[in-house]
Amino acid sequence: MGLKEDLKTLKEEAKRSLEKAETLETLNEIRVSFLGKKGKLKNILKSLGKLSPEERKEIGQLANSIKDEIEKILREKTELIKKQLLENQLKEKKIDITLPPAWIESGSSHPVISTLIEISEIFISMGFSVAEGPEIEEEKYNFDMLNIPPDHPARDMQDTFFLNNGKILRTHTSPVQIRTMLKNKPPIAIIAPGRVYRKDADPTHSPMFHQIEGLLVDRNVTFRDLKGILKIFLESIFGKNVKIRFRPSYFPFTEPSAEVDIGCTVCGGSGCRVCKDTGWLEILGCGMVDIQVFKDVGIDPEEYTGFAFGLGIERIAMLKYRITDIRLLFTGDMRFNRQFKGIR
Ligand code: PHE
Repeated sequence: MGLKEDLKTLKEEAKRSLEKAETLETLNEIRVSFLGKKGKLKNILKSLGKLSPEERKEIGQLANSIKDEIEKILREKTELIKKQLLENQLKEKKIDITLPPAWIESGSSHPVISTLIEISEIFISMGFSVAEGPEIEEEKYNFDMLNIPPDHPARDMQDTFFLNNGKILRTHTSPVQIRTMLKNKPPIAIIAPGRVYRKDADPTHSPMFHQIEGLLVDRNVTFRDLKGILKIFLESIFGKNVKIRFRPSYFPFTEPSAEVDIGCTVCGGSGCRVCKDTGWLEILGCGMVDIQVFKDVGIDPEEYTGFAFGLGIERIAMLKYRITDIRLLFTGDMRFNRQFKGIR
């Protein structure tokens, strides 16, 4: 009975090879050479057709049980080798969990961002919500609908970054006023913090800086409301004793317009380099929303009034932290940045 013998020999041979195998690769080679499509088992069974039905059944069963047995050993051996591999790895890469961790320097907020958040929170606490607009803006929103005519000096190539897709980098956050009024009906109370861009670079001007816009539109909004809100804001930032003055000014999109100064936080009003000996620091622009702006966005100026304001965040951060050169805020010099650890 040659076939039976052959099968038994094959089984023993397979067992011996499996016994010796030490890697997963060898196990796989053994599987292929004994059980594979062109393997030894298939080879023996080729002559199955020549046998009588009874013999065929017997040999078939034997072959199956041998196959099962080899597969079982393969599985066990695979598990064993995997376990050993893991154990070796664990032994090699010993981790001492009692060691103190490597010192990692913790990060902190950038003074511009923490000032932005601080200002935002003051207005949020008074009921304003936060609106946003794109930094790549259309002239229509940045200028035209803010009542800034095409020949206005603010549109000059010297101030504005023009892009070759016909758009511009917004020069202030005021376009968010327009976008908000086009989208929402009054009452409106929003602030819009974000980056703005102007062709300007010296110790107090950076080509990219941050502003916060404010806009409140409702029935019976007056200049008094504007003064009250800004007073609360400035006292929260600079302290209850801050001196505040409103100075008449001009913006095409507000009427009347004002600029707000605070008493110099460096010299206290006696005059110094920072306030250029005036005792005052200009801090923001504001005014009542111009009737023309209301008309262009479809808000009835007979029914509604509103105020708007805009301020530079770097300027406030510089006063708050006594930074004398705006460029320090954007060079990423860690000797500078590290000094703001601990601010929120
Ligand atoms: N957008 C003005 C600027 O950048 C500031 C401003 C905002 C003035 C809102 C009045 C009202 O200078």
